[in-house]
Amino acid sequence: MPPLPSELAYVPFVSVEHMMGLVHHIGIETVLRELADEIEADFKRWELFDKTPRVASHSDVGVIELMPTSDGEMYGFKYVNGHPKNTKEGLQTVTAFGLLADVNSGYPKLLSEMTVLTALRTAATSAMVAKHLAPKGSTTMAMIGNGAQSEFQCLAFKAICGIDTVRLFDIDPAATAKAARNLTGHGLNVVSCKTGEESMEGAQIITTCTADKQYATILTDNMIGEGVHINAIGGDCPGKTELHRDILLRSDIFVEYPEQTWVEGEIQQLDEGHPITEMWQVITGQAKGRTSDKQITLFDSVGFAIEDFSALRYVSKAIEGTAYFTRLDMLADPDDPRDLFGMLERSKD
Ligand SMILES: NC(=O)c1ccc[n+]([C@@H]2O[C@H](COP(=O)([O-])OP(=O)(O)OC[C@H]3O[C@@H](n4cnc5c(N)ncnc54)[C@H](O)[C@@H]3O)[C@@H](O)[C@H]2O)c1
Repeated sequence: MPPLPSELAYVPFVSVEHMMGLVHHIGIETVLRELADEIEADFKRWELFDKTPRVASHSDVGVIELMPTSDGEMYGFKYVNGHPKNTKEGLQTVTAFGLLADVNSGYPKLLSEMTVLTALRTAATSAMVAKHLAPKGSTTMAMIGNGAQSEFQCLAFKAICGIDTVRLFDIDPAATAKAARNLTGHGLNVVSCKTGEESMEGAQIITTCTADKQYATILTDNMIGEGVHINAIGGDCPGKTELHRDILLRSDIFVEYPEQTWVEGEIQQLDEGHPITEMWQVITGQAKGRTSDKQITLFDSVGFAIEDFSALRYVSKAIEGTAYFTRLDMLADPDDPRDLFGMLERSKD
C-alpha cells in the first residue's frame, strides 16, 4: 500500500464545473462587482507589483501566452491562448487556467480554470475603467462582436456602470441571436442591430470585442461622435487591431501596462511617444481621466497579469467554506524533504 500524500501535497483546484457553480452561488452581477473592486484595489497598489509584458508564443493561427506577476506575498500566472479560427472548428477562441502560489514557500495555493474567469475579469476590468472614464449617466452601450466574451461585458456594464440598454452587432447574425437569447431575463433592454453604425445609435459607450488575426477596422473615424467612451477589447496581439488609426488620433488613450500595450494594443498603430495615460494613475488621482463632455476616451485594453492575479485571489477567498473546489494531490511532499526517491520507492506495490 503506497503511503498517503501529506496534507501539504494538496492544492485546491477549481474546475470549470466548480467555477460555474460558484458564480451561480454568489450571483453573476455580484461576482462582477466584487471582482471589479478587487481589481481596482490592485490598480491602486500597482507600483508594488512585479510587472512584465506577457510571454507570447505566436503561430500563424494564434498565440499562447504566459502572464506572471507577484505582489511580494503571492505569485500568480495565467496560461491563455487566442485562436480566432477556433470557433469555426467548434473550439473556443480563448481558453485559460491559472495558478496562485505563496512567495514565502513557493508552494501553489490555488489551481483554477480561467476560461470563464477570464471572461469575468475582462468584463469587470472594462466596466471598472469605464466607471472612471465614460460620460456620467451613460445608459446605452454598443456591443460589437457577440462571441464568448460579449454577454459578460454587457452584464458588467449593467452591474457596475448602470447601463440599461445594449445594442448588439456581429458580422455573424447567429452570434447576435445567441447573445440576445442569453441576455434575456437579465434586466437589460437588448437591441439586435444589422450594422455597426446602427449599433452605435444613441450609445455613450462603444465596446469592440471581435476576434480576427489581422489589422481589422471594426470602427472607422466617421462612426465616432464626440463625447463617447470606447472600450476596445479585441485588439490584443501584434498585428491584430480593431480601430482605424484616425480614431486614436482624436481620442485620449488609457492603457493598462504601456510596455505590453505598445506591442499588442491599438496603439501599435501610433508613433512611439504618442501621449497615453496609465489607468492606475487615473484611479489613484495622479492623472486626469475624462475632463470634458466632448472628449473621446479610449480604453485600449489588452488584458494584464495583475487583473488575473486579482481574480485568482478573489476565487481563492470565495471558495473558502464552500464545496466549489477539490483537493488535488499535486505536490510531492515526502516526510523527509530530501527523500523524494525514497518516497517513490515506497510507493511500489
Ligand atoms: N483585452 C482583454 O483583456 C481580452 C480578454 C479576453 C479576450 N480578448 C479578445 O477579445 C476578442 C473576443 O474574444 P471572444 O472569446 O469573445 O471571441 P469569439 O471568437 O468567441 O467572438 C468574436 C466575435 O467577433 C465577431 N467578429 C469578427 N469580426 C467581426 C467584425 N468585423 N465585425 C463584427 N463582429 C466581428 C465574430 O463573428 C465572433 O462572433 C478576442 O480577440 C480576444 O483575443 C481580450
